[in-house]
Amino acid sequence: MAISMRKPLSTGETQPWTAKEVLQGKPLGHPSHPMLVHFPVAFYIGTLGLDILSKVGGFPAAPLATTWLLIGAFAATSLAVLTGLVDRSTVRAGSQTRGHINRHMLLQFVTAGLFVLNFVIRWPDRHLAEAKLLWLILDVIGVGTLVVGQYLGGRLVYGLGFRVGESAED
Ligand code: HEM
Repeated sequence: MAISMRKPLSTGETQPWTAKEVLQGKPLGHPSHPMLVHFPVAFYIGTLGLDILSKVGGFPAAPLATTWLLIGAFAATSLAVLTGLVDRSTVRAGSQTRGHINRHMLLQFVTAGLFVLNFVIRWPDRHLAEAKLLWLILDVIGVGTLVVGQYLGGRLVYGLGFRVGESAED
């Protein structure tokens, strides 16, 4: 589908998209949140992969690479959080859907918090050739909460049938 630069109205006229509609992905014709979430997911799991590789694969640049990967993950998480919050704002407070979104959101915040802690701990040792055990433990816990959060995001869309831009009443 082509990108719509202006919002088509039922009268046949057009008007500019609002900032909220742009963040929701309306000009693209599909939600923007699912499009962005792949990046933090890949970067967090990639961090765990590189840390394992530094231990078993003889890859001494891996710990430094994970430092950059985590900075990318935080930038991508910020975009996912922004678009997620905009989509959340369209759902009635107190509804079942809103409760489900809140659980998904909480797990994503816990994941991001764990990786921020992980980042702060590894920063002074980022030039080491091998990951420390504590980094790996935090990676595994963070990837665990991430995966459960992803599952809840998927349930929201494919289980509850939540569609961005359509009001969810229950
Ligand atoms: C404040 C934080 C967040 C809120 C409020 C939020 C909210 C939402 C909402 C409302 C949906 C339903 C679909 C949509 O809106 O497009 C969703 C889906 C999803 N979210 Fe989030 N989200 C947040 C953060 C994140 C983060 C950081 C990630 C990834 C690391 C993520 C991963 C997902 C996934 C995988 C789905 C399912 C998408 C699909 O399969 O179509 N979310 N989220």
